Amino acid sequence: MSQDRRDRTGYRTRMAGTLDAESGGETVRLTGWVHRRRDLGGLVFVDLRDRSGLLQLSFDADYTDTEALERAHRLGSEDVIQVEGVVTLRPPEARNPELATGEVELQVRSLTLLNRARTPAIPVYRASDEELPAEELRLRHRHLDLRRPELQENLALRHRLVLAARNVLDRNGFLEIETPILTKPTPEGARDYIVPSRVHPGEFYALPQSPQIYKQILMTAGYDRYFQIARCFRDEDLRADRQPEFTQIDLEAAFVEPEDIFRWVEELMETLARQAGRDAQPPFPRITHAQAMERYGTDRPDLRFELEIRDWTEALADSESNILRGAVKKGGRIRGLAVPGGAALSRREVEGLEGLAKAQGAPGLFWTKVQDDGASGPLSRFLPEGFREGMGVREGDLVLLAAGPDSMTSPALAAVRAPAVRAAGGEEVRRDAWLWVTDFPLFERDEERGVLIPGHHPFVQPHPGELERLETAPERVGSLAYDLVYNGAELGSGSVRIHDAGLQRRVLQVLGLSDEEIQRKFGFLLEALESGAPPHGGIALGMDRIAKDFVGAASLRDVIAFPKTTAARALYEGAPSPVTPEELEGLKLKVQEGGRGPDGSETA
Ligand code: AMO
Repeated sequence: MSQDRRDRTGYRTRMAGTLDAESGGETVRLTGWVHRRRDLGGLVFVDLRDRSGLLQLSFDADYTDTEALERAHRLGSEDVIQVEGVVTLRPPEARNPELATGEVELQVRSLTLLNRARTPAIPVYRASDEELPAEELRLRHRHLDLRRPELQENLALRHRLVLAARNVLDRNGFLEIETPILTKPTPEGARDYIVPSRVHPGEFYALPQSPQIYKQILMTAGYDRYFQIARCFRDEDLRADRQPEFTQIDLEAAFVEPEDIFRWVEELMETLARQAGRDAQPPFPRITHAQAMERYGTDRPDLRFELEIRDWTEALADSESNILRGAVKKGGRIRGLAVPGGAALSRREVEGLEGLAKAQGAPGLFWTKVQDDGASGPLSRFLPEGFREGMGVREGDLVLLAAGPDSMTSPALAAVRAPAVRAAGGEEVRRDAWLWVTDFPLFERDEERGVLIPGHHPFVQPHPGELERLETAPERVGSLAYDLVYNGAELGSGSVRIHDAGLQRRVLQVLGLSDEEIQRKFGFLLEALESGAPPHGGIALGMDRIAKDFVGAASLRDVIAFPKTTAARALYEGAPSPVTPEELEGLKLKVQEGGRGPDGSETA
């Protein structure tokens, strides 16, 4: 379809941002917002903005109607206008190489004011992050903030990603099937958002934390390959990479092994990355969860940097340091990083890195700089002769060590790793680092409550060779669960599922559920599994996270049209909000002490 046909509506013939030297001489009608106006008396310049970009309009008595020129003098920011005129090449000295349309301008003949705008509460322009108004203000005036070209570009990219995802999955035989939003609690580890039923007072729906159970039931029902661009809801503590409602590219397939899922997802990510000017070349490297924890201290290592953790226990077990020896005696290990070029860091910078480790619960780091005259720094006097060769340490390195149980040294070293490389001036080895982390433990121990919880969710297939210790040593049972990691962020998570009802019951029992609870919470899933369930597996990819990481945004809020704050509030429309006594009455609900009444005040 020609540009013309695509752009044309009853109001306009073209989009402003698509005009260039080739359109020179054309008469066009355009619509949009007054982005900026410069009034030079006889001559008025206006930057017209529509979704496609910006174009300079010029108003001059030589070619503009008197009435239009008059009106141009009175235009305000964000007024909505329609103009007609001739696309004209700018003289060379007036060209603007920063603007896609910078070689041309529209010499306006006539102007219609379609709607006046009040003085905008926040400015709408392309600004660096530091210049932007406070985020809370921008969220309150989201209709203005959303006019910002950056946000328009982000949301347009997101559209292209979702579209491309649909196409790749369709091509591979996946069917898009919707699953309910008003449903029963789904165990993904967060709290549920609960919706009261008016028809059945005292009973509640839960919003889905994911379509997990439904997609498994679709597999037992023979749909073979399912996907959904699924909205999920989780009442959990929010961070920059978490929203209470978010979107997954959710998929599931029958008669599959992890390999099959990897292949589809790699094809998917290769296509999506291309849309965003990123790079994803299958096959992605793979490491097991145990290897990831050993080499990087985290299950989502950032492989843009090559640095790995090494075990210094043997090298230092007999050192003079009581702390080091003591840590080993208590069953811990000494582990550390040798940061290339780190010897050049100042003491303050090293202490800054130590602060990151302390924030993860480490009492501190042992460190030493390795320079031509030997080692210097608090650790140096404990280092044995010839430690460098044994530990692969080179001239100019900064050695950072943590001593204690892995549960402490791993997070501490993981937190330090990338900042240390960056501080030492180390380059990212790659811009886009993809990774599969496989073989997650089936269970974890919830430290606070001391109970066993699922590593991912309770439907993950335990490692077939380790089933016999399910009841006796559950924490040593591995699983067929995998995560997709991109530049240190978990973009997706999935697994092969349990398709045997008996095994599913066993896993739920190990998690401490009574037979009655199992029946009440998961009876419908078990019934489906008993009806001839095929082996099946899948994954869910975080759509918001993919978009955020591809555009390099600081927060998910930059790729969501109407996001929530970290306090889970929608500032624009003002949600959540109290309901009237009548509504509560209709639901047979009462707000308890400490809650909010209809006027927003605390109830007595
Ligand atoms: P999981 O809970 O790991 O797995 O979620 C899958 C992916 O969804 C994204 N994600 C989020 N994104 C934004 N805000 C959040 N609060 C949030 N929580 C999760 C992440 C994550 O990797 N049913 C399983 C999947 C499966 O086993 O197939 C599930 O939901 O990118």
